[in-house]
Amino acid sequence: MTRSAPTILVTGATGTVGREVAQRIPARYRVRLLTRRPEAVGRTADHIEVVAGEYADPESLDRALHGVDRALLVTADVGGDHDTRFLHAARSAGVRHIVKLSGASVSDPGADDLITRWQRDCERQLCASGMAWTLLRPRSFMSNTLAWAPTISSEGRVRALYGDSVNACVDPRDIADVAVRALTEVGHEGEAHVLTGPNPISAVQQTKLLAELLGQQLTFEELAEDEVRAQYRRRHPGPLADALLRSAERQRAGAKSRVENTVLRVTGHPPRSYAQWAADHLTAFVQAA
Ligand SMILES: NC(=O)c1ccc[n+]([C@@H]2O[C@H](COP(=O)([O-])OP(=O)(O)OC[C@H]3O[C@@H](n4cnc5c(N)ncnc54)[C@H](OP(=O)(O)O)[C@@H]3O)[C@@H](O)[C@H]2O)c1
Repeated sequence: MTRSAPTILVTGATGTVGREVAQRIPARYRVRLLTRRPEAVGRTADHIEVVAGEYADPESLDRALHGVDRALLVTADVGGDHDTRFLHAARSAGVRHIVKLSGASVSDPGADDLITRWQRDCERQLCASGMAWTLLRPRSFMSNTLAWAPTISSEGRVRALYGDSVNACVDPRDIADVAVRALTEVGHEGEAHVLTGPNPISAVQQTKLLAELLGQQLTFEELAEDEVRAQYRRRHPGPLADALLRSAERQRAGAKSRVENTVLRVTGHPPRSYAQWAADHLTAFVQAA
Protein backbone atom coordinates (compact mmCIF):
# COMPACT_ATOMS: atom_id res chain seq x y z
CA MET A 1 0.00 0.00 0.00
CA THR A 2 1.38 3.44 -0.88
CA ARG A 3 1.52 6.22 1.71
CA SER A 4 -0.83 8.31 -0.41
CA ALA A 5 -3.73 5.81 -0.35
CA PRO A 6 -6.83 7.74 0.77
CA THR A 7 -8.10 6.93 4.26
CA ILE A 8 -11.78 6.14 4.72
CA LEU A 9 -13.37 6.12 8.19
CA VAL A 10 -16.38 3.84 8.64
CA THR A 11 -18.57 4.69 11.64
CA GLY A 12 -21.27 2.27 12.76
CA ALA A 13 -18.69 -0.29 11.69
CA THR A 14 -20.10 -3.05 13.89
CA GLY A 15 -23.69 -2.36 12.80
CA THR A 16 -25.86 -3.74 10.02
CA VAL A 17 -24.71 -1.45 7.19
CA GLY A 18 -21.25 -0.36 8.40
CA ARG A 19 -20.12 -3.98 8.79
CA GLU A 20 -20.97 -4.67 5.15
CA VAL A 21 -19.31 -1.44 4.00
CA ALA A 22 -16.09 -2.31 5.84
CA GLN A 23 -15.85 -5.66 4.02
CA ARG A 24 -16.43 -4.11 0.60
CA ILE A 25 -13.95 -1.21 0.42
CA PRO A 26 -11.12 -2.23 -1.95
CA ALA A 27 -7.76 -2.96 -0.33
CA ARG A 28 -6.09 -0.06 -2.17
CA TYR A 29 -7.71 2.24 0.43
CA ARG A 30 -6.72 2.55 4.06
CA VAL A 31 -9.84 1.77 6.06
CA ARG A 32 -10.44 2.78 9.66
CA LEU A 33 -13.35 1.26 11.59
CA LEU A 34 -14.80 3.25 14.49
CA THR A 35 -16.41 1.43 17.41
CA ARG A 36 -16.85 1.92 21.14
CA ARG A 37 -15.63 -1.66 21.61
CA PRO A 38 -12.55 -2.33 19.44
CA GLU A 39 -11.89 -5.52 21.40
CA ALA A 40 -15.18 -6.95 20.07
CA VAL A 41 -14.03 -6.67 16.43
CA GLY A 42 -12.32 -9.82 15.23
CA ARG A 43 -9.34 -10.13 12.93
CA THR A 44 -9.42 -7.79 9.94
CA ALA A 45 -7.51 -7.50 6.65
CA ASP A 46 -4.15 -5.67 6.53
CA HIS A 47 -5.58 -2.46 5.04
CA ILE A 48 -8.11 -2.18 7.90
CA GLU A 49 -7.42 -0.57 11.28
CA VAL A 50 -9.87 -0.56 14.21
CA VAL A 51 -10.06 2.57 16.37
CA ALA A 52 -11.90 3.32 19.61
CA GLY A 53 -14.41 6.13 19.24
CA GLU A 54 -17.53 7.41 20.95
CA TYR A 55 -19.56 10.32 19.59
CA ALA A 56 -19.88 11.85 23.08
CA ASP A 57 -16.07 11.91 23.48
CA PRO A 58 -14.57 14.68 21.25
CA GLU A 59 -10.96 13.59 21.84
CA SER A 60 -11.70 10.07 20.63
CA LEU A 61 -13.24 11.56 17.46
CA ASP A 62 -10.20 13.78 16.87
CA ARG A 63 -7.93 10.73 17.14
CA ALA A 64 -10.15 8.62 14.87
CA LEU A 65 -10.46 11.36 12.23
CA HIS A 66 -6.78 12.32 12.01
CA GLY A 67 -5.68 12.00 8.35
CA VAL A 68 -9.12 10.86 7.14
CA ASP A 69 -10.25 11.95 3.64
CA ARG A 70 -13.77 10.49 3.51
CA ALA A 71 -16.16 8.99 6.03
CA LEU A 72 -19.34 6.98 6.27
CA LEU A 73 -21.51 8.53 9.00
CA VAL A 74 -23.98 6.26 10.82
CA THR A 75 -25.78 7.55 13.89
CA ALA A 76 -28.82 6.19 15.73
CA ASP A 77 -29.41 8.64 18.63
CA VAL A 78 -32.83 9.91 17.55
CA GLY A 79 -33.09 13.56 18.65
CA GLY A 80 -29.49 13.58 19.92
CA ASP A 81 -26.33 15.47 18.92
CA HIS A 82 -24.04 12.74 17.55
CA ASP A 83 -24.14 14.15 14.01
CA THR A 84 -23.34 17.66 15.28
CA ARG A 85 -20.37 16.37 17.25
CA PHE A 86 -19.04 14.19 14.45
CA LEU A 87 -19.38 16.91 11.79
CA HIS A 88 -17.58 19.43 13.99
CA ALA A 89 -14.67 17.02 14.52
CA ALA A 90 -14.61 15.98 10.84
CA ARG A 91 -14.47 19.57 9.59
CA SER A 92 -11.64 20.37 12.03
CA ALA A 93 -9.74 17.28 10.86
CA GLY A 94 -9.99 18.35 7.19
CA VAL A 95 -12.30 15.52 6.01
CA ARG A 96 -13.38 16.27 2.46
CA HIS A 97 -16.44 14.08 1.86
CA ILE A 98 -19.07 12.56 4.16
CA VAL A 99 -21.48 9.82 3.05
CA LYS A 100 -24.39 9.83 5.49
CA LEU A 101 -26.79 6.97 6.20
CA SER A 102 -30.21 8.62 6.49
CA GLY A 103 -33.67 7.25 5.64
CA ALA A 104 -36.18 7.26 2.77
CA SER A 105 -38.90 8.88 4.88
CA VAL A 106 -36.95 12.16 4.67
CA SER A 107 -38.24 12.55 1.12
CA ASP A 108 -41.83 11.43 1.93
CA PRO A 109 -43.94 14.62 1.97
CA GLY A 110 -46.39 13.06 4.47
CA ALA A 111 -43.73 12.03 7.00
CA ASP A 112 -43.41 14.28 10.03
CA ASP A 113 -42.61 11.94 12.91
CA LEU A 114 -39.77 12.37 15.41
CA ILE A 115 -37.36 10.04 13.58
CA THR A 116 -37.92 11.70 10.20
CA ARG A 117 -37.54 15.21 11.66
CA TRP A 118 -34.26 14.14 13.32
CA GLN A 119 -32.95 12.64 10.08
CA ARG A 120 -33.90 15.79 8.14
CA ASP A 121 -32.11 17.94 10.69
CA CYS A 122 -28.97 15.74 10.51
CA GLU A 123 -28.99 15.96 6.72
CA ARG A 124 -29.33 19.76 6.89
CA GLN A 125 -26.34 20.00 9.22
CA LEU A 126 -24.19 17.94 6.86
CA CYS A 127 -25.27 19.88 3.76
CA ALA A 128 -24.41 23.16 5.53
CA SER A 129 -21.06 21.87 6.86
CA GLY A 130 -18.91 23.00 3.94
CA MET A 131 -17.73 19.41 3.35
CA ALA A 132 -18.83 17.48 0.26
CA TRP A 133 -21.80 15.23 1.06
CA THR A 134 -23.77 12.27 -0.24
CA LEU A 135 -27.04 11.16 1.37
CA LEU A 136 -28.15 7.51 1.43
CA ARG A 137 -31.90 7.26 2.00
CA PRO A 138 -32.82 3.58 2.32
CA ARG A 139 -36.33 2.20 2.77
CA SER A 140 -36.71 -0.35 5.62
CA PHE A 141 -33.91 -2.88 5.91
CA MET A 142 -34.83 -6.47 4.96
CA SER A 143 -32.80 -7.48 8.00
CA ASN A 144 -35.47 -5.98 10.30
CA THR A 145 -37.28 -9.32 9.88
CA LEU A 146 -34.51 -10.95 11.96
CA ALA A 147 -36.68 -9.74 14.88
CA TRP A 148 -39.07 -12.56 13.92
CA ALA A 149 -36.43 -15.25 14.40
CA PRO A 150 -37.24 -16.14 18.04
CA THR A 151 -40.98 -16.80 17.44
CA ILE A 152 -40.29 -18.51 14.10
CA SER A 153 -37.93 -21.02 15.65
CA SER A 154 -39.85 -21.51 18.92
CA GLU A 155 -43.51 -21.40 17.73
CA GLY A 156 -43.48 -21.38 13.92
CA ARG A 157 -45.21 -17.99 14.10
CA VAL A 158 -44.68 -14.41 12.91
CA ARG A 159 -46.49 -11.61 14.74
CA ALA A 160 -46.62 -8.16 13.16
CA LEU A 161 -48.74 -5.09 12.59
CA TYR A 162 -50.59 -4.40 9.30
CA GLY A 163 -49.54 -7.71 7.71
CA ASP A 164 -50.84 -6.92 4.23
CA SER A 165 -49.21 -3.49 3.96
CA VAL A 166 -46.20 -3.42 1.63
CA ASN A 167 -42.71 -1.93 1.92
CA ALA A 168 -40.10 -1.74 -0.87
CA CYS A 169 -37.53 -2.90 1.68
CA VAL A 170 -33.84 -3.06 0.76
CA ASP A 171 -31.03 -5.52 1.44
CA PRO A 172 -28.36 -3.84 3.66
CA ARG A 173 -25.73 -5.32 1.31
CA ASP A 174 -27.15 -3.16 -1.49
CA ILE A 175 -27.00 -0.08 0.76
CA ALA A 176 -23.35 -0.99 1.46
CA ASP A 177 -22.59 -1.45 -2.26
CA VAL A 178 -23.94 2.04 -2.97
CA ALA A 179 -22.08 3.49 0.04
CA VAL A 180 -18.78 2.05 -1.22
CA ARG A 181 -19.35 3.55 -4.68
CA ALA A 182 -20.07 6.92 -3.09
CA LEU A 183 -16.94 6.67 -0.91
CA THR A 184 -14.59 5.60 -3.69
CA GLU A 185 -15.88 7.13 -6.96
CA VAL A 186 -16.31 10.70 -8.09
CA GLY A 187 -19.76 11.95 -9.07
CA HIS A 188 -21.75 11.28 -5.89
CA GLU A 189 -21.09 14.64 -4.22
CA GLY A 190 -24.35 16.57 -3.68
CA GLU A 191 -26.48 13.47 -4.48
CA ALA A 192 -29.30 11.97 -2.39
CA HIS A 193 -29.69 8.28 -3.23
CA VAL A 194 -33.08 6.78 -2.36
CA LEU A 195 -32.54 3.02 -2.01
CA THR A 196 -35.18 0.31 -2.29
CA GLY A 197 -35.42 -3.36 -3.08
CA PRO A 198 -36.81 -4.67 -6.40
CA ASN A 199 -40.44 -4.91 -5.29
CA PRO A 200 -42.77 -3.93 -2.47
CA ILE A 201 -43.50 -6.86 -0.17
CA SER A 202 -45.78 -7.39 2.85
CA ALA A 203 -45.08 -9.19 6.14
CA VAL A 204 -47.57 -11.88 5.13
CA GLN A 205 -45.66 -12.46 1.86
CA GLN A 206 -42.31 -12.46 3.68
CA THR A 207 -43.67 -15.07 6.11
CA LYS A 208 -44.78 -17.25 3.19
CA LEU A 209 -41.32 -16.99 1.57
CA LEU A 210 -39.56 -17.85 4.82
CA ALA A 211 -41.85 -20.88 5.28
CA GLU A 212 -40.99 -22.14 1.78
CA LEU A 213 -37.25 -21.67 2.31
CA LEU A 214 -37.31 -23.26 5.77
CA GLY A 215 -39.55 -26.11 4.60
CA GLN A 216 -41.70 -25.44 7.65
CA GLN A 217 -45.27 -24.28 8.23
CA LEU A 218 -45.39 -20.72 9.57
CA THR A 219 -48.48 -18.91 10.85
CA PHE A 220 -48.88 -15.16 10.45
CA GLU A 221 -50.68 -13.45 13.32
CA GLU A 222 -51.76 -9.85 12.84
CA LEU A 223 -51.11 -7.79 15.97
CA ALA A 224 -53.67 -5.25 17.17
CA GLU A 225 -52.60 -1.59 17.17
CA ASP A 226 -53.09 -1.30 20.96
CA GLU A 227 -50.91 -4.34 21.55
CA VAL A 228 -48.10 -2.89 19.42
CA ARG A 229 -48.42 0.53 21.03
CA ALA A 230 -48.03 -1.08 24.48
CA GLN A 231 -45.05 -3.14 23.24
CA TYR A 232 -43.29 -0.09 21.76
CA ARG A 233 -43.94 1.94 24.93
CA ARG A 234 -42.39 -0.78 27.06
CA ARG A 235 -39.26 -0.75 24.87
CA HIS A 236 -38.87 2.94 23.89
CA PRO A 237 -39.49 6.43 25.27
CA GLY A 238 -43.05 7.66 24.42
CA PRO A 239 -42.18 10.02 21.52
CA LEU A 240 -40.04 7.34 19.82
CA ALA A 241 -42.81 4.75 20.27
CA ASP A 242 -45.30 7.18 18.68
CA ALA A 243 -42.91 7.84 15.77
CA LEU A 244 -42.64 4.09 15.07
CA LEU A 245 -46.44 3.76 15.07
CA ARG A 246 -46.88 6.71 12.74
CA SER A 247 -44.30 5.18 10.42
CA ALA A 248 -46.27 1.90 10.38
CA GLU A 249 -49.47 3.84 9.63
CA ARG A 250 -47.78 5.52 6.66
CA GLN A 251 -46.79 2.08 5.39
CA ARG A 252 -50.42 0.91 5.73
CA ALA A 253 -51.46 3.97 3.67
CA GLY A 254 -49.10 2.87 0.87
CA ALA A 255 -46.37 5.51 1.38
CA LYS A 256 -43.49 2.98 1.32
CA SER A 257 -44.32 1.00 -1.81
CA ARG A 258 -42.46 2.97 -4.46
CA VAL A 259 -39.52 1.18 -6.11
CA GLU A 260 -36.44 3.16 -7.22
CA ASN A 261 -33.79 2.09 -9.73
CA THR A 262 -30.89 3.62 -7.76
CA VAL A 263 -29.14 0.38 -6.78
CA LEU A 264 -28.95 -0.74 -10.43
CA ARG A 265 -27.97 2.72 -11.65
CA VAL A 266 -25.17 3.20 -9.12
CA THR A 267 -23.78 -0.33 -8.76
CA GLY A 268 -24.61 -1.92 -12.13
CA HIS A 269 -26.33 -4.88 -10.43
CA PRO A 270 -30.06 -5.20 -9.69
CA PRO A 271 -31.17 -4.90 -6.07
CA ARG A 272 -31.36 -8.18 -4.18
CA SER A 273 -34.85 -9.56 -3.54
CA TYR A 274 -36.25 -10.48 -0.13
CA ALA A 275 -36.12 -14.14 -1.21
CA GLN A 276 -32.37 -13.77 -1.81
CA TRP A 277 -31.80 -11.97 1.49
CA ALA A 278 -33.80 -14.64 3.36
CA ALA A 279 -31.99 -17.54 1.64
CA ASP A 280 -28.64 -16.02 2.64
CA HIS A 281 -29.71 -15.55 6.29
CA LEU A 282 -31.77 -18.68 6.84
CA THR A 283 -29.58 -20.07 9.61
CA ALA A 284 -30.50 -17.07 11.79
CA PHE A 285 -34.13 -18.28 11.78
CA VAL A 286 -33.17 -21.84 12.63
CA GLN A 287 -30.65 -21.09 15.36
CA ALA A 288 -32.72 -18.58 17.33
CA ALA A 289 -34.50 -21.20 19.48
N1 LIG B 1 -33.46 -0.36 10.17
C1 LIG B 1 -34.09 0.27 9.20
O1 LIG B 1 -35.07 -0.24 8.61
C2 LIG B 1 -33.60 1.63 8.74
C3 LIG B 1 -34.19 2.21 7.62
C4 LIG B 1 -33.73 3.45 7.19
C5 LIG B 1 -32.71 4.09 7.87
N2 LIG B 1 -32.16 3.50 8.98
C6 LIG B 1 -31.09 4.23 9.69
O2 LIG B 1 -29.92 3.41 9.78
C7 LIG B 1 -29.15 3.87 10.91
C8 LIG B 1 -28.70 2.67 11.72
O3 LIG B 1 -27.84 1.88 10.91
P1 LIG B 1 -27.51 0.36 11.26
O4 LIG B 1 -28.82 -0.36 11.43
O5 LIG B 1 -26.52 -0.12 10.27
O6 LIG B 1 -26.83 0.51 12.69
P2 LIG B 1 -26.97 -0.51 13.91
O7 LIG B 1 -26.90 -1.92 13.42
O8 LIG B 1 -28.14 -0.08 14.75
O9 LIG B 1 -25.64 -0.22 14.72
C9 LIG B 1 -25.40 1.03 15.34
C10 LIG B 1 -23.92 1.36 15.17
O10 LIG B 1 -23.69 2.65 15.75
C11 LIG B 1 -22.57 2.58 16.62
N3 LIG B 1 -22.80 3.49 17.74
C12 LIG B 1 -23.91 3.54 18.52
N4 LIG B 1 -23.75 4.48 19.47
C13 LIG B 1 -22.51 5.02 19.28
C14 LIG B 1 -21.77 6.03 19.96
N5 LIG B 1 -22.27 6.66 21.03
N6 LIG B 1 -20.54 6.34 19.50
C15 LIG B 1 -20.02 5.68 18.42
N7 LIG B 1 -20.68 4.70 17.74
C16 LIG B 1 -21.90 4.39 18.17
C17 LIG B 1 -22.48 1.13 17.07
O11 LIG B 1 -21.11 0.83 17.30
P3 LIG B 1 -20.51 0.14 18.63
O12 LIG B 1 -21.64 -0.44 19.42
O13 LIG B 1 -19.57 -0.91 18.09
O14 LIG B 1 -19.79 1.24 19.30
C18 LIG B 1 -23.01 0.36 15.85
O15 LIG B 1 -21.96 0.03 14.97
C19 LIG B 1 -30.05 4.83 11.70
O16 LIG B 1 -29.68 6.15 11.40
C20 LIG B 1 -31.43 4.53 11.15
O17 LIG B 1 -32.31 5.64 11.26
C21 LIG B 1 -32.57 2.29 9.42
